[in-house]
Amino acid sequence: MQPRPQPKRSRKADMSMDTRSWALITGCSSGIGRALVASLRRRGWGVIATARKVETLADLPLGEDLRVMPLDVTDAQSIARVVEGCRALRLTALVNNAGYGQMGPLELLRTEELRAQFETNVIGLQAITSALLPQIRANASPGAGRIVHVASVLGRLSIPMAGAYNASKHAVVALAESLRLEVAPAIAVILVEPGAIKTQFRATLKQAWGDLPERAKGTRFEQSILHYAAKREDYAYQHGMTSEACAEQIAKAMSARRAPRRVVVGRDSFWAQVAHRLLPAALFERVLRRSYGLD
Ligand SMILES: NC(=O)c1ccc[n+]([C@@H]2O[C@H](COP(=O)([O-])OP(=O)(O)OC[C@H]3O[C@@H](n4cnc5c(N)ncnc54)[C@H](OP(=O)(O)O)[C@@H]3O)[C@@H](O)[C@H]2O)c1
Repeated sequence: MQPRPQPKRSRKADMSMDTRSWALITGCSSGIGRALVASLRRRGWGVIATARKVETLADLPLGEDLRVMPLDVTDAQSIARVVEGCRALRLTALVNNAGYGQMGPLELLRTEELRAQFETNVIGLQAITSALLPQIRANASPGAGRIVHVASVLGRLSIPMAGAYNASKHAVVALAESLRLEVAPAIAVILVEPGAIKTQFRATLKQAWGDLPERAKGTRFEQSILHYAAKREDYAYQHGMTSEACAEQIAKAMSARRAPRRVVVGRDSFWAQVAHRLLPAALFERVLRRSYGLD
């Protein structure tokens, strides 16, 4: 039997029936982005969950308050399709969560690796932000718009063997601070600065560094690279926060009447930033060099 034709509804009518505020999250296939879908839905948000491979979102519990869309933040056509797909919803928030870590000493880093790191973590983040800002501004009542940039403690200080990632997250901090000045008071820009969170992040580190262990053979970095990923993974699993706990802090900040400018997630992020501010630079650097086997 053919389905009965439904009367056509205009986009305006769709929007007037759905009074929810919708938030689009990038990078929901795993980790913080995935956990944030549930946290925001629990707080009454509609969520547009996006991922490069949309099939990774198939197990999200269905509901009126969920849409899923494919999105690769480095692909202009993919961004354009998402912009069109959001028009029927009252989009008032964007969470720029997608990102990965390109690790390795700067001396051995390939130009294309640095470029790719910036394409995703920085340029992609700004591209989707610019593309969705007009909708957010049009839909949100004054002060209720939200743009969230998930940076890192490594956007505030730098560690060795992670120069590309550190630089990308410092750039995210700068973009958030400039954007805040430009879009206030209508839209609040929230900068999230997590420490170690238990996610897929450390598994993808190893994918992103490709043949780095080969390149490092015979260099002064050979030994430290061998232990680097394992050490960071161990640290995250011993001391890291769960992605759910991190997501709760982000959702709380987004839902607050007066959104905070910064959300420092995790004691490690907090204390590392305090130490960076208070310790003499030479001492801070000596501690870091020693802990990464560079002394
Ligand atoms: N975990 C930590 O300790 C930690 C600490 C500080 C900051 N952060 C930041 O938190 C954010 C989320 O990371 P996570 O820890 O949750 O790691 P994760 O589990 O690896 O999640 C990263 C997400 O980003 C997506 N992504 C990567 N490149 C993309 C692109 N070009 N377009 C769209 N999506 C893309 C991944 O999708 P695919 O599955 O398709 O690759 C994945 O969904 C990142 O920005 C990361 O830098 C993490």
